[in-house]
Amino acid sequence: MKKMKKWYLALLTFALAFSLAACSSADSGGSGEADGVQELTIKISHVVAENTPKHQGALAMKEYIEKESDGKIKVQVYPNSQLFGDKDEYQNLVANNVQFIIPDMSKLVGNDPGFNIPAMPFLFKDDEAANAFWDGEKGQEIFKRLEKDGVLGLSMWPNGAKHITNEKKAIKTPDDLKGLKIRTQGGQLLEAIYGDLGAGSTSIPFAELYTALQQGTVDGQENTYSNIESKKFDEVQKYMTIMGHTRVDYALLTNTKFWDELNDETRKIIEKGVEEGTTVARDSAMDLNDDALKTLKDRGQVEIHELSESEIDAFKKKLEPVYKEWAEKIGADIIKDAESKNE
Ligand code: LMR
Repeated sequence: MKKMKKWYLALLTFALAFSLAACSSADSGGSGEADGVQELTIKISHVVAENTPKHQGALAMKEYIEKESDGKIKVQVYPNSQLFGDKDEYQNLVANNVQFIIPDMSKLVGNDPGFNIPAMPFLFKDDEAANAFWDGEKGQEIFKRLEKDGVLGLSMWPNGAKHITNEKKAIKTPDDLKGLKIRTQGGQLLEAIYGDLGAGSTSIPFAELYTALQQGTVDGQENTYSNIESKKFDEVQKYMTIMGHTRVDYALLTNTKFWDELNDETRKIIEKGVEEGTTVARDSAMDLNDDALKTLKDRGQVEIHELSESEIDAFKKKLEPVYKEWAEKIGADIIKDAESKNE
């Protein structure tokens, strides 16, 4: 009888250990198989709407990975901060509660000052220059600095140049910003820019921005056309100035806990899925922004002013000191490399 009890206990312990192992591998994605494509469910979380390059890229990743894995890998895409928002997506990535996030780099400036690059005034002339920087040695170096958190930067996805909207007045000169309160994505560089322009600034999560604009918590904000249009900020803003002074660029991030549990076959499919997503996001960013600008014009709810070359020069001049100061903070060699991508 005693023998029987021991045997039964051993079996029970084994069964418990086995089911715990199965649970933890299902949580983090891995099935523990040495060969063959692992059965996984992957979550991709982001904060913007569907009609944006970020969501289109995420859908392309989903399509490729599910197809190439014969459905063994399931990919769930959560837009509009449905799963996690700006404030908690990074920590949930680190905890492997989500396997991919795609934050605006301005939200990573607390992790490393290099992520201020998209906020450097008038630094990149277009998406291609920004892509080339982040694909290059210096950009990859900045991504690598997240590894201390157990986070891997796999790719950069562009959205595009930002433009200012506000409720108070048409902005044509740096002085027009005096006294306005502007929402930013966060970080000291964006704060310094608005400080130099005589405006106040505060960072508000993207999911709360429409209400903040509607209620007058802030007078304005800066964003890409596709973000402005898809979130209907023109319903709650009277003016938009086309200026392209800063950018929204994204970092596609995963965590090492998830990544290291993948076998070679599975990782290859996911890596290729990332490439597919990158191609779609990069190819669609400019078109989606062009379409969004057309839609904003058609809706006719914001008065649009496009800065002339000389008006842009006035902003460049005004923001020169902040550019110089932050070039040093980020690293002169990094900024030189970034500038060289415009050539
Ligand atoms: C914002 O918060 O305005 C943007 O960074 C949102 C996004 O992810 O494009």
